[in-house]
Amino acid sequence: MFKTVKISNSLSRKVISIFLIAMTAMVFSSAALSVQSLRGDSALDSDSNKIVKHRVNTVEGGIKRNFKLQPPMIPHTIDKYQITLKNNGCMKCHSEKAYKKEKAPKVGDSHYVDRDGKTLKQVSGRRYFCNQCHAPQTKDNPLVENTFEGI
Ligand code: HEC
Ligand code: HEC
Repeated sequence: MFKTVKISNSLSRKVISIFLIAMTAMVFSSAALSVQSLRGDSALDSDSNKIVKHRVNTVEGGIKRNFKLQPPMIPHTIDKYQITLKNNGCMKCHSEKAYKKEKAPKVGDSHYVDRDGKTLKQVSGRRYFCNQCHAPQTKDNPLVENTFEGI
């Protein structure tokens, strides 16, 4: 009787020490792998990290195209120009009427052609949302190396 109690005592001591080691390991590993969300690893009740601002690359004369039918990149900032159902801010400068005065390139003729091949008076619905195809560039180092060569 006495003997069995002794065995179970040392067994429970072993179980407890394994448990403690496991807990310590968990505490240390969770400190190293703290949760990283879009707002960084700042605590829930503190302000999030400041968002890094990206400066838009303004390129006079435009950005060189890499292939013939590439939608040219936008060489200026666009945050002030809105595209809504009733008004397209980009067309204030890039339309047939305005481009000369604004010294901006006119949208390509292709932008007035609808899906049935008809040439319209206004920009076609297919080309209405300009930044679906055209995008500005920022002054950042590329995240991955790009070895594409234009033709
Ligand atoms: C205030 C006038 C103005 C507005 C509004 C404007 N742009 Fe421009 N855009 C210009 C001018 C001027 C250039 C030529 C810049 C240069 O070549 O130095 C240009 C160049 C471009 C080019 C490059 C064309 C090429 O052949 O390289 C694209 C693409 C473009 N704009 C798209 C847009 C889009 C999309 C919007 C709306 C989000 C927009 N622009 C709004 C004035 C404007
Ligand atoms: C579906 C994709 C697409 C959309 C949407 C689009 N474009 Fe384009 N854009 C192109 C392509 C491709 C080219 C180059 C070939 C061409 O002119 O069709 C181009 C060319 C241009 C050029 C240069 C024209 C030239 O002759 O050098 C300007 C400026 C331009 N787009 C402005 C705009 C504006 C402003 C809008 C919105 C009203 C717009 N684009 C919407 C694809 C698009």
